[in-house]
Amino acid sequence: MFNFFKKKYIPRPIFAPLGTDMHCHLVPCVDDGSKCVEESIEAFQTLAAVGFKKVIITPHFQYPRFQNDEDDIRRRYDVLRQQALEQGVDIELGGVAGEYRIDTGFAPRLENPRFLMIGDKYVLVEFSLHQQMMGCDEMIFDMQMKGYEVILAHPERYPYLSVGGHRMEQLKNQGVFFQVNLLSLGGFYGDEAKRRATAMIEGGLVEFLGTDTHNSLYCQALRDLSCNRKVQRIIEKYEFLNHTL
Ligand SMILES: [Fe+2]
Repeated sequence: MFNFFKKKYIPRPIFAPLGTDMHCHLVPCVDDGSKCVEESIEAFQTLAAVGFKKVIITPHFQYPRFQNDEDDIRRRYDVLRQQALEQGVDIELGGVAGEYRIDTGFAPRLENPRFLMIGDKYVLVEFSLHQQMMGCDEMIFDMQMKGYEVILAHPERYPYLSVGGHRMEQLKNQGVFFQVNLLSLGGFYGDEAKRRATAMIEGGLVEFLGTDTHNSLYCQALRDLSCNRKVQRIIEKYEFLNHTL
């Protein structure tokens, strides 16, 4: 039921120092993100309202759930970009990349890599939320040997990666960049992810922040988060690499 007493926050541009959102699911109808152009346009407007100047979209590549093809995603992105331009959205669409799950379908990708990259060198990868794939380090090493820089999406959401633990240290020593979800800082994924996200940032383990926006629920949570003073202080206090994208 609609709650008349729930406070409505006016979005504030607190994420302006980041410049670029480099993780979201706003190519319509290709994964569990946006379902239509209108939903994507609304999300772009939210991202602009909370301070982002540029957005890079990262659809899921996940076997067997989202068997996306790079050329198809590029074509769909070009159409979306044109529609966004026609509607005059106040944010730059800065390209399309992927969020590649390291799963049983990932190894074959390394034989003939066609990764959709963030900028000209970064590939965004994610692990399963439940357990890490065997041979994962070797696959990441293979990517690095091929010249890619690897960004691990939302490490705060993997309960098996303890903050400051041996496994996390291994990944950092291997040169893996970490991207924390902004909404984790507001408790969107629960208290544990919030605690872990904050500890990782304070521990200097995080290079990128992303919204991981999927739909209007995430947009509302982002608008609310933009009024959170603690989150604003984190954005202002720590240096991230989003602005280099
Ligand atoms: Fe994502």
